[in-house]
Amino acid sequence: MKKDCGYAAAEEVKDGQILGLGTGSTTLYFIEKVGMRVRDEGIEVMGIPTSFQSSLLAREWNIPITSLDEHEIDLAVDGADEIDPDFNLIKGGGAAHTLEKIVDYSADELIIIADESKLVDTLGAFPLPVEIIPISLKPVTKALNDMGGEVAIRMGEKKDGPVITDNGNFILDVSFGRIENPIEMEEELNTIPGVVENGLFTQMVDKVIIGSKDGVKYL
Ligand code: 5RP
Repeated sequence: MKKDCGYAAAEEVKDGQILGLGTGSTTLYFIEKVGMRVRDEGIEVMGIPTSFQSSLLAREWNIPITSLDEHEIDLAVDGADEIDPDFNLIKGGGAAHTLEKIVDYSADELIIIADESKLVDTLGAFPLPVEIIPISLKPVTKALNDMGGEVAIRMGEKKDGPVITDNGNFILDVSFGRIENPIEMEEELNTIPGVVENGLFTQMVDKVIIGSKDGVKYL
C-alpha cells in the first residue's frame, strides 16, 4: 500500500519541477519511483530533502539536490502519521517534522501519501511529536503538562539516551487525547519557549493519495 501510493505520487511529477522530498517508509517509494523516471524517461527534476534519510535516497537515485536558498518548490510529497477528514495531519513519527514543515509549507503544491491506516476521524491517538531545544526539557515539559499533555521523551534504539534529531534537538511525544482544535493547537505549541516545531500540519494539504487494499485512492 505504501509502495502503491508512493509510486502513484511520482506519476504526478512533471519534467523540470523542483520537488520537496518528504521522509519515512512511504516517501521512500516516491523517491525511488522519481529516480526510476529520471533514469528511464530522462525527466529533469531537482529535490530538496527534509532529512538525512531523503537526502541519501535522492543521491542513491541520482536525483540532483538543491536548497531553498537556490530554488522554490513546485511540488512537495510527504507522508503522515494521522490524517483527519479536513486534511489536518500529525507528522514527526520519524522525527523529521521541522524540516518537513519548512519544505511542505513553502511548496506550491503539497501531496500527502499514506496507507489507509493513517486516516482517522479525529487526530490524537498518535502521540504528537514536538521538537525541542535540549536545555528546555523541564520548562517545556511543564508547559505541555499544563496544556493537558502527557509527555514522553523519545529514546534512541541502538543508541543510549534520547533521539537526537537531524537538527541536534530532542523529540517529546505528547499524548493529548483527542485533538479537537488542531489549528489553534499548532499555533499555541509554537509559542512555548524552547519548542522548535510541533507535528501538527494544518490548512496546507492539496491532495491525499491513499494506498488501500482496493487500490490507490485520490482524496
Ligand atoms: C517523519 C514523518 C513521516 O512522514 C511520517 O512519520 C510517516 O512515516 P511513514 O511513511 O514511515 O509511516 O512525519 O517525520
